[in-house]
Amino acid sequence: MSIDRVAIFDTTLRDGEQSPGASMNAEEKLEIARQLVRLGVDVIEAGFPISSPGDFESVRRIGAEVGDAAVVCALSRAIAKDIEVAADALATAKRPRIHTGIGVSESHLRDKLRISGDEAIERAVAAVKLARSFVGDVEFYAEDAGRAEPAFLYRMIEAAIAAGATVVNIPDTTGYAYPEAFGALIGGLKEHVKGIENAVISVHCHNDLGMATANALAGVKAGARQIECTVNGIGERAGNTALEEVAMALHQRPDIFGVTTGIHTREITRTSRLVSSITGIRVQPNKAIVGANAFAHSSGIHQDGVLKERSTYEIIDPVEVGLGGSSIVLTARSGRHALKHRLEELGYNLPDEEFERVHVAFLDLADKKKEVFDEDLEALVGESERTVNEVYHLAQVHFTSGEPGIPTATVELVTQEGEHLIDSSHGTGPVDAVYKAINRIVDVENDLTEFRVEAVTRGIDALGEVTIRVKSADGRIFTGRGAHSDIIVASAKAYTNALNRLLVSQIPAAHEEI
Ligand code: KIV
Ligand code: ZN
Repeated sequence: MSIDRVAIFDTTLRDGEQSPGASMNAEEKLEIARQLVRLGVDVIEAGFPISSPGDFESVRRIGAEVGDAAVVCALSRAIAKDIEVAADALATAKRPRIHTGIGVSESHLRDKLRISGDEAIERAVAAVKLARSFVGDVEFYAEDAGRAEPAFLYRMIEAAIAAGATVVNIPDTTGYAYPEAFGALIGGLKEHVKGIENAVISVHCHNDLGMATANALAGVKAGARQIECTVNGIGERAGNTALEEVAMALHQRPDIFGVTTGIHTREITRTSRLVSSITGIRVQPNKAIVGANAFAHSSGIHQDGVLKERSTYEIIDPVEVGLGGSSIVLTARSGRHALKHRLEELGYNLPDEEFERVHVAFLDLADKKKEVFDEDLEALVGESERTVNEVYHLAQVHFTSGEPGIPTATVELVTQEGEHLIDSSHGTGPVDAVYKAINRIVDVENDLTEFRVEAVTRGIDALGEVTIRVKSADGRIFTGRGAHSDIIVASAKAYTNALNRLLVSQIPAAHEEI
């Protein structure tokens, strides 16, 4: 059997961001994009530039950052202005791709677009041609292909390829398909579409019936050579095909699929944790590959079997997905060189200024806790990257609490202009007191909708990570995170982080065209 390569198209930053509450700012998207490069994805769909100035900016910055390490893709509808703005945003990319398309199911044509099939084909052809006038790599999506009339879908795809599409995406937009039928739909392209050999077939499956991974793999069996997916399977409604699931299925079962990918599987766990930490969307414990229990054996019979021979109950070696491979533990005496070396081993080549910030935070943490684990370092790097573009920086927080006693907090925030602002408040508990003190300074309407504390590492001295969500006056959700060995300090950082994101979103956009 010949070994073919399947391209991994990551849409965590576009479709994944459509998960409720998962909106990310440009810094956070850049942080994820850097990790996607380390993971080895082929294509990063960086955003939908016409949709907001923030998306435009993210595509632009990711294009500049990624260089030729991956194709950078921008989404557009089959509308001239969308395509022009996408091309504009991609100007910084070395390997740009425009992803454009239109609905193809009867329901989309009749109820959403209110146009005939012929008109849809005309629009698709014009969109692909316009996109090709800007870039050489154009992907065409046939929205809701999973519910479309196959004969019409094939006609549309043939026209898109003739107009210049280099990749044709067959999305099961509503998660309606099942593997046998979806595989047959993909196989039919090869049989019925003239010119199909000139384009890569891509699959983009949603998980409404829990079959996104199975459908995408059925597509590969039938000849698709690109899979669109997201880290942890996040995305619109029930989400998308999970990147880690398809990557590991193709990796573990060459006997079935006979294909390879460019994914460095040992980066999977770190990527999953980063996306979960930035979006605030937790991974369910029993989630395949990246769930906390994915490699946990609970019953005595299973434990006995695994202790005798791992493969009795484990089809994947956890080290292969980046779990438990390291025995390096840093301490306060480890020094700068050891810290830098360990960070590089973890894949972080930090610029000097960034390294200095992490070093200071490391010394502070190592002072409080005897041993600093890899997970602690990852949290510190994440925190450090998130301090960029702060409207308010948390300089200090002091609190008292007890029983009896009145929980009281004093905070000092520093503005970008260097102004030091101090205020105090009491509250029902120390976190409440801290939040009220911060509110007295920041004074922006918001509603705290979620508050979560997790231990990043083991032990009583573990670094605590607080994730919170706040709702702005206009109903938008902003996630904030903070990590510290004191969970009240972590809470103060998380709240300041969320308010910063809310405030940044209110700064008028510099980009006038959108
Ligand atoms: O699900 C879908 O159809 C999409 C397209 C925009 C590719 O996300
Ligand atoms: Zn989608």
